[in-house]
Amino acid sequence: MSEPLWLPERPRRLRQTAAIRQMVAETDLRASQLIYPLFVRTGRGEARPIASMPGQHQWSADRLVGEVSRAAAAGVPAVMLFGIPASKDAQGSGIEDTEGVVPDAVRRLKDACPEVIVMVDLCLCDYTDHGHCGLLTPRGTVDNDATAARLARAAVVFADAGADVVAPSDMMDGRVGAIRAALDASGHEQTLVLSYAVKYASGFYAPFREAAENRPQFGDRRGYQMDVANAREALREARLDMAEGADLLMVKPALSSLDILARLAPVVDRPLAAYQVSGEYSQIMAAAERGWLDERTAALETLLAIRRAGASVILTYFAVKAAQWLSA
Ligand code: PBG
Repeated sequence: MSEPLWLPERPRRLRQTAAIRQMVAETDLRASQLIYPLFVRTGRGEARPIASMPGQHQWSADRLVGEVSRAAAAGVPAVMLFGIPASKDAQGSGIEDTEGVVPDAVRRLKDACPEVIVMVDLCLCDYTDHGHCGLLTPRGTVDNDATAARLARAAVVFADAGADVVAPSDMMDGRVGAIRAALDASGHEQTLVLSYAVKYASGFYAPFREAAENRPQFGDRRGYQMDVANAREALREARLDMAEGADLLMVKPALSSLDILARLAPVVDRPLAAYQVSGEYSQIMAAAERGWLDERTAALETLLAIRRAGASVILTYFAVKAAQWLSA
């Protein structure tokens, strides 16, 4: 045994027992902070597995109700719905269909699980045959203002169906203001807007594009989604969305934007959400399947890190499992 060192500081004293570690933990992760993204398709009795996202499915509305009840029972308070409509066209007109797959699912959920917070992703890419997040000009570029106007009308359709939150994920300029104005003008002053304020053009959305069947048929989304190189631009986008009336702001992807969350958290005086996107989920699932890492340890570690960086709430495909792990 060597002589003990005399040290002015011994940080390890605070790590010696689980009770001390828990007492001094600076960050918490609770089921009540999780939002579960779900894909809803037409049909009945359907739960189609998504190959690139093990454990995730495309649900028909009747089966969706069961899955959302399961999530609620685990303690997950909110879901985010993505629609896979039966047909698509160049204008994405299905997004305004009051009998569409998403309004139908929202009505059923509000009926069956009224306590669940129902959020709807508001973007044209699920409804356009070309797969872009907006209407196209004759030259094939995305028409910002026409897109914002259509999204504003669609927001009213979703709010009429009973959605608690609409979440524009298109990245058009000015759409938050247009949506807020349309909601207010139609008696939906209480409908919340969660803006995808800082959404980077990311390779980590690839599995989602299989899940939602909305891969762009030409080009890419760099003309509207942000360049990964930029951080100050994130502050600008966040400032604009707050000024236009966003109630909550989102950053995505989560794990490659921890610095952005940390920069925004002190200056954004609204709840900040982070989206742990499909590729972040699938890379953990793929490695876990091979035995290269432990799913639970890795998933909870990433979620806690996202909270530590400054997120108030997290959208994650691990929501139900994480809620179960946290209460076990
Ligand atoms: C579409 C949208 C995307 C995601 C959420 N909304 C894909 C994209 O922009 O290409 C990604 C979600 C995920 O990867 O889990 N507006």
